[in-house]
Amino acid sequence: MARVVVTGGCGFVGSRLVRRLVARGDDVVVFDGASRARNLEGLDAVVVPGDVRDAGRLASVIGPGVDVVYHLAAVVGVDQYLARPLDVIDVNFTGTRNVLDLAVRADARVVVASTSEVFGKNPAVPWSEEADRVLGPTSADRWSYSTSKALAEHLTLAYGRQHGLAATIVRYFNAYGPGQRPAYIVSRSVHRALNGRPLVVYDGGSQTRCFTYVDDVVEGTLRAGADPAAVGETFNLGGTHETTVADVVALIARLAGFDGPIAPVDTARRLSAGYQDLQRRIPDTRKAAALLGWRAVTPLQEGLRRTVDWARDNPWWLALEDSGALSEPAGRPVEAGGGA
Ligand SMILES: NC(=O)c1ccc[n+]([C@@H]2O[C@H](COP(=O)([O-])OP(=O)(O)OC[C@H]3O[C@@H](n4cnc5c(N)ncnc54)[C@H](O)[C@@H]3O)[C@@H](O)[C@H]2O)c1
Repeated sequence: MARVVVTGGCGFVGSRLVRRLVARGDDVVVFDGASRARNLEGLDAVVVPGDVRDAGRLASVIGPGVDVVYHLAAVVGVDQYLARPLDVIDVNFTGTRNVLDLAVRADARVVVASTSEVFGKNPAVPWSEEADRVLGPTSADRWSYSTSKALAEHLTLAYGRQHGLAATIVRYFNAYGPGQRPAYIVSRSVHRALNGRPLVVYDGGSQTRCFTYVDDVVEGTLRAGADPAAVGETFNLGGTHETTVADVVALIARLAGFDGPIAPVDTARRLSAGYQDLQRRIPDTRKAAALLGWRAVTPLQEGLRRTVDWARDNPWWLALEDSGALSEPAGRPVEAGGGA
């Protein structure tokens, strides 16, 4: 039985990770700023409320005896980058630094959750772990998420080299599944379809993504925290099946039995000038396959079916507000492609 800390464990990916850790008998402590952990209800995990920027509070959970820290706490989602731009940067930098610092002192291993957003809009897909970062201007909030996550990656590698920390970085690609806030392409579409509201496809929907079922992401994260070969390494964790946004929305409509309208949204007008989208986002996952024996195994249709079924069984989730930035009126320039 390992002693494990999961920061951000009340969130979408974190709560599924906690579920797996508890199921295999680990002693799990969740550290999260959320006041309510609906996704964790019924699970045998200790939840300590707190902000990862508060080193003193964080030290109450990351100390001697902790074996692994999974650091997932972050401010996530386009609507959040717009509303809380300073928090996005601060949580990724100060929060990650605190986690790494305490992990060194506790001699704990660390897995840091990063994102495909670090690659920015590099057109040369698929992206290997070593692909270039191609970013837009600092006036677009999207790149502050990308940049601060990249800085968190630099910090992680630096703690490894300078302090001998056993750390691994995992970059998620468009994770989807049960319990995700209805602010992303899949979760928003499922939420709208089951609530009988028009579905939204932005800019024609020809953009492609590699949607990755959350349990596959969790499996890769667990392997990154356990395999000795993962120490000091960075891994892309994503599906490799390229799907257009229009196709995924149509598939969700079919699975949800939705026959209402699919409304086009012109993001350039909705989100004002400065908007740029990514046309394709595709990971090269050969490294995770070679070193971790990992690949995303859940077919899109199956993952979407589970997500729709789960949503049907969870009216509290269907009653949440649809919080995607693209449902909001025009605001500051943002470069949004449906989140990472
Ligand atoms: N979901 C995806 O597709 C995706 C893609 C790429 C990367 N990621 C990364 O994976 C991680 C988990 O993402 P998610 O989709 O589960 O997001 P989420 O928003 O569902 O979960 C994030 C959790 O972090 C907590 N948190 C935020 N700020 C905090 C702070 N200052 N102190 C403590 N807790 C704080 C939130 O309360 C929340 O429970 C994040 O690091 C995110 O950047 C997610």
